Amino acid sequence: MGTKFHWHNTISVIGSGYVGVTTAAIAANTGYKVYLIDINQERIDVLKTGKSFFYEEGIDALIKNALDSKQLIPTTSYDGITKSSIVFSCVGTPDNSDGSPNLDYVFSAAKAASNKMKKDAVYVQKSTVPVGTGKIVASMLPGQVAYISNPEFLREGTAVFDTLNSDRIVIGGADKEAQNKVKSLYETIEHGSANITKLTGITAQPHANGSYFLTNLESAELIKVTANAFLALKISFANSIAKLADKTGADITEVMDAVGADARINRSFLNAGRGYGGGCFPKDVSGLISSAAEHGVDLSIMTAANEVNESMPGYIVHKAKRSLTSFEKKKIAVLGLAFKAGTSDTRRSPGIKIANLLANAGAYVVAYDPHANKEAVHELKTTISIVETIVDATKNVDAVFIATEWPEFKQQDFHELSRIMKGNLVVDAVNILNPSDILKAGLQYIGIGRG
Ligand code: UGA
Repeated sequence: MGTKFHWHNTISVIGSGYVGVTTAAIAANTGYKVYLIDINQERIDVLKTGKSFFYEEGIDALIKNALDSKQLIPTTSYDGITKSSIVFSCVGTPDNSDGSPNLDYVFSAAKAASNKMKKDAVYVQKSTVPVGTGKIVASMLPGQVAYISNPEFLREGTAVFDTLNSDRIVIGGADKEAQNKVKSLYETIEHGSANITKLTGITAQPHANGSYFLTNLESAELIKVTANAFLALKISFANSIAKLADKTGADITEVMDAVGADARINRSFLNAGRGYGGGCFPKDVSGLISSAAEHGVDLSIMTAANEVNESMPGYIVHKAKRSLTSFEKKKIAVLGLAFKAGTSDTRRSPGIKIANLLANAGAYVVAYDPHANKEAVHELKTTISIVETIVDATKNVDAVFIATEWPEFKQQDFHELSRIMKGNLVVDAVNILNPSDILKAGLQYIGIGRG
């Protein structure tokens, strides 16, 4: 049974991507009636069947339960906004060819909502936008509607866990009352999290009081892109040092384990590999660079991070070429097409770049991903075959590339792999394997920065 209608516990979420679906599914299972609005009828139809169009741990159980209890209403209509106390904008911001984010959806969502918003309702921007955008969007809304920037920090693959266990919740804006309204929504979600745990098995730790940051609008906007840019910087730094490790015989994993043991530095996001991908880091880094340029600020530190990242797929392919002499007519398996483990997302996936580079160099490429085969089809060169199992991908191949850190790639039987391969080269583009396991199975190992 749905809870009784009251506008204080009715909200709308515009945009049914990772952020919108997660926000809506969690709120709808913690006491809110949620209109999940998207102009894409196909996505709404999938949501109405009780599942998401992407793979994400726990999310389908939440959607199904909220639909059954009538707390979640996926719809292409904006009418739910007339009943909502809070409207979240979670629309996509794809990048323009010059690296700046395309804000068309951000503005069109605000325009569509502005005609329908109740007096005293709050418009909350969750989409990642360049600093300064909020001021423009706020000016499109009716005078009595407050505008808040509440950036999202969830990672794909752990979206539900991250929403229940956030390091911080940033609520930026000029209207204290509106900030507190948004804060109290998060507190309600926190109090209702036991229901999420019951449905998904994903647990929540209580928030420390310090985890709310009530800031001004521009700070909130800048916090989001700065956090992503800094993590991207860490990865590119680790990859730069990995290249030096390759030249000198140092092992990047040993180096970063010790360097990251310093609490001031921290070990996370120092894993060297084929570089970062996905819908966020590449776009946010180029968006920050173009924002800075627009204001006459030199952000060459991020341009360098970007360049290092772009070089990584080619770097590992080139390293492997030295072992195989040539890729011409070689049969090569690429395991991992998602941009990271735990998701079916293939946007800016380094695994896809590696597969296409190998195919361009004349190799016959067989690709496999446990969850992203379907998503990868249109991004892979047509000469690449996509198969449904690791065994189908690896039999009779000269070399195997591991491009995503899925546990099943790490846990495979390497003696068996050695038996079914024609050649013996294993290229670990995500540094997840233990080189000695590979060598013991009679295979040759190449990683990034591992000597
Ligand atoms: C990232 C941020 O981590 C989230 O906090 C943020 O909310 C999100 O972007 C967003 O802006 O929406 P996500 O893109 O899901 O989340 O993925 P991450 O787990 O951060 O990984 C990004 C990429 O970096 C992946 O390709 C991953 O393989 C790579 N990576 C990560 C490395 O190459 N090395 C590392 O040490 C860590």
